[in-house]
Amino acid sequence: MDMARGPRLTMKLDEKAAHFTASVFFDWRLLPFDIQGSIAHVTMLSEQGIIKTDDAHTIITGLKQVLEEWQAGQLSPRLEWEDVHMNVEGRLNEIIGPVSGILHTARSRNDQVALDMHLYMLDAGLRLKALLYDMIAALVDRAHEDLDVIIPGYTHMQAAQPVLLSHHWMAYKSMFVRDYARLEEWYERTNCSPLGAGALTGTPYPTRPERTQELLGLKVVYDNSIDAVSDRDFLMEFLSWASLTMVHMSRLAEELVLWSTQEFGYIRIADEYSTGSSIMPQKRNPDVAELTRGKTGRVIGRMQGLFTTMKGLPLAYDSDMQEDKEAVFDVVDTLDGILTVVPAMLRTLRVQRERILKRLGNDYTAATDLADLLVAKGMTFREAHHLVGKIVGFLEGLGKGFHDVDRDWLKDVAPAIDPQWLQHLRPAELVAKRQQSMATAPQRVKEQIDAAKIWLSRHKESATENA
Ligand code: ARG
Repeated sequence: MDMARGPRLTMKLDEKAAHFTASVFFDWRLLPFDIQGSIAHVTMLSEQGIIKTDDAHTIITGLKQVLEEWQAGQLSPRLEWEDVHMNVEGRLNEIIGPVSGILHTARSRNDQVALDMHLYMLDAGLRLKALLYDMIAALVDRAHEDLDVIIPGYTHMQAAQPVLLSHHWMAYKSMFVRDYARLEEWYERTNCSPLGAGALTGTPYPTRPERTQELLGLKVVYDNSIDAVSDRDFLMEFLSWASLTMVHMSRLAEELVLWSTQEFGYIRIADEYSTGSSIMPQKRNPDVAELTRGKTGRVIGRMQGLFTTMKGLPLAYDSDMQEDKEAVFDVVDTLDGILTVVPAMLRTLRVQRERILKRLGNDYTAATDLADLLVAKGMTFREAHHLVGKIVGFLEGLGKGFHDVDRDWLKDVAPAIDPQWLQHLRPAELVAKRQQSMATAPQRVKEQIDAAKIWLSRHKESATENA
C-alpha cells in the first residue's frame, strides 16, 4: 500500500529519488511521540462523533501494538513508506486492516510532524534541564571544595590578580544558571500544540484542537494554523540555546585543557576521563575536554544550517523543513553526551595545590595592589602604575618576585615604596581585601556559594521532574 501516491502519481517513485527524499531512517526516533499524538487525535475524533467509538478502539489498540514492537526492536523502518508517520500507518494497516485508513481523517502530516517535534523537544528539554542542573551542582561542589585555593586570575591570558579558584568555578556557575533560565523560558514557549492545523488552513471536520492539546498535556494551541505548520522557531531557538550553552562549555573545557598541561599543572584530570597516546607513554590526554570544545563547532554549525534552510521559505510547509530533524537530533545527542560526562570529570579532577602555590609566589599579580598602596600615600594612580611597572621590569631581569626582593635595592630604586608593605602583598591578603558582594574575598565567595546552594535546593524538584 502506498499511502501518499494516489491516481495522480501512476508511476512508482524512482528508487534513488525514494532514498533521497525519505526521512524514515532518521525520523524513526519520533515513533513514540507520533503514536502519542495519534492516540490523542483518534480519541478526540471519536469524542466529537467524527469516527465510530469501536473504530477508535481498534486503532488505538493497534497503535499500542506498533509502539510495543518498536520498543522491543522488532520493527524496522521501510523505505517504501517514506517517513515515520507512514511507517506507523503502514504497520497499523498490516495489523488491523482497512480500519487503519480512518486514522488520518482531519489531519495532515504537516500538523502531525510539527506536533511530533514539539513532543520530542519537550521530552529532550526536560532531560537536558536535569543534566544542566547537575552541571551547575558539580561547579558548586567544586567551589565548595576548593575554597582554600588561590590562583592567578588572567586577563589577556596574562597573570593579572590573585583570585579564589572557587570564584573562577562560580563564574561558570553563573553562566549555566542563565542557560538554565533560558531553557525554561524556551520550554514554556514550546509547550504548544499545532495539531488541528491540518495541511495549513484547519479542517472542515468539527475537530477540537483544544481537546487534543489537553489530552497531550500541552499548555496551549497555536493561534494561527498557517503558523502552526510553518513554525520552526522552537527548533531554531533550541539550537541557539544549545550553541550558547556549548560556548560556555567550550570555554570551560579550554581552561581544563590548559590547566592540565605540564606547563600549568593546576589540575590533574582523573584517569577515568583521560586517554593515553598510542605512541607517547608519558601522555594523559584531556580528550573529554577537547571533544567538548570540538563539538561546539558542530552544534553552532547545526544552528547555522537550520537558520539558513529556513530563511528563504515561503509559508506554509515546505519539504526543506524535513532538514530540521538531523540538525536537532544531532545536537540533542551531543548535549546528552557532554552534559553526562563533563560534570563527572569536574567532580573527579584533582587540584594541584602545591603547583599553584609555587606559581603564585613567582608572579607579579600583586602589582595593582602595590600601586594602590602608593596611591594611599598620595601618589596619583598613573604615577604609581608607572613606578610599579618599572620595578617589575627590573625584578623580571633579576629573576625575583615581590617576596624575595632585596630591601636595600628596593630603597635605592624606589624610595617611595616602604619595604614593609611587601609582606602585605601575599595573595591571601590581596583576595581578602576585595569585599564587594560579587568579589573574591573568601567570605564573599562563601556567601555566593551559599546562595547557589539555595538556588540548587529551590530548583531540585523542577529540575528532576519527569527527567
Ligand atoms: N517527513 C516529513 C518531515 O520530516 C513529514 C512531513 C511531510 N509532509 C508533507 N506534506 N510531505 O518534514
